[in-house]
Amino acid sequence: MVEASAPAKIIFFGEHFVVYGEPAIVLAIDKRVYTRATLGRENQIYINSHELQASGFFTGNRFQTEKGGKEAERKLQPVGTVIRKILAKSKEKVGVNVEIKSSIPVAVGLGSSAAVAASVATAVGKLLKVALSSKDIFQLAYEAELFVHGTPSGIDPAISTYGGALLYRKDKGYEPLQVEADIPLVIGNTRMQRSTGKLVAQVRERRDRYPKIMEPVIRAGGEITQKAVEALRRGDIATLGELMNINQALLSAIGVSNETLERLIHAARNAGALGAKLTGGGGGGCMIALASRDKLRKIADAIEKADGVAFTARKTDEGVKIEQQT
Ligand code: PMV
Repeated sequence: MVEASAPAKIIFFGEHFVVYGEPAIVLAIDKRVYTRATLGRENQIYINSHELQASGFFTGNRFQTEKGGKEAERKLQPVGTVIRKILAKSKEKVGVNVEIKSSIPVAVGLGSSAAVAASVATAVGKLLKVALSSKDIFQLAYEAELFVHGTPSGIDPAISTYGGALLYRKDKGYEPLQVEADIPLVIGNTRMQRSTGKLVAQVRERRDRYPKIMEPVIRAGGEITQKAVEALRRGDIATLGELMNINQALLSAIGVSNETLERLIHAARNAGALGAKLTGGGGGGCMIALASRDKLRKIADAIEKADGVAFTARKTDEGVKIEQQT
């Protein structure tokens, strides 16, 4: 048996503006997906995902559902593909069983699907004694994301694989960022499902209608990220909070905030957050608040009172890793 885990992520600064070439900062957070892999019957892959409420068997090209009805095959396909690719590299004539458990809410922009893929690749690679570098794990998780998102930027599989903080640019890819400070966060989930693709399209439409207004907003978004990189290096969380509030105003200007997000953001600020903003695509999903550690509980309570689901999180430097092996 091998158990591996991988972290969730938040976009700290720069979502949407990143689509137009500006930099974005992404942080791995201490909420993880855990995958347990064991050897199974030859040619058979068994996957059980508790959070997706789906399980079943892939045998060759056939899929047999155990739990989750008609949707199960589509939900489990990305993981099935990762395992199949590793099995193809292995010399052993075996099958694989995986159990996936997670403390990351799904489909709210926290990168759960990439964390699942990275943890599965690591657990199964170790189990089958197939040597996989971090780059290989990233690549496998990226290919799994192609199933889920169509045109993923690669930021989610990168942060799940490497952990820590990354600066991402469309043309230059990602680079690790040095971060001195502890980054205490509260995450507020609106529980509103949304489509990142639709929101990206709406922003493009607004930019095309008002190019002279929107272009400077987008460039200002990029400037905020640059300033945030400097503040992260210094461990200056007061400045980071202020920059988050400015960033939120720009996200509102491009049309991706909504009443529920604003309610949670204002509740967090009123309860003492240094800064608060939506994270990811917007239009629902999650918001984040930055605060000194002693204020986290109060902020989480205020978000819950405003009808969000709140939990505390902090940056983690631990990317994908082996938890145990027997
Ligand atoms: O899908 P999410 O919530 O992790 O965030 C998407 C981030 C965007 O900048 C809106 C889109 C993108 O591809 O970068």
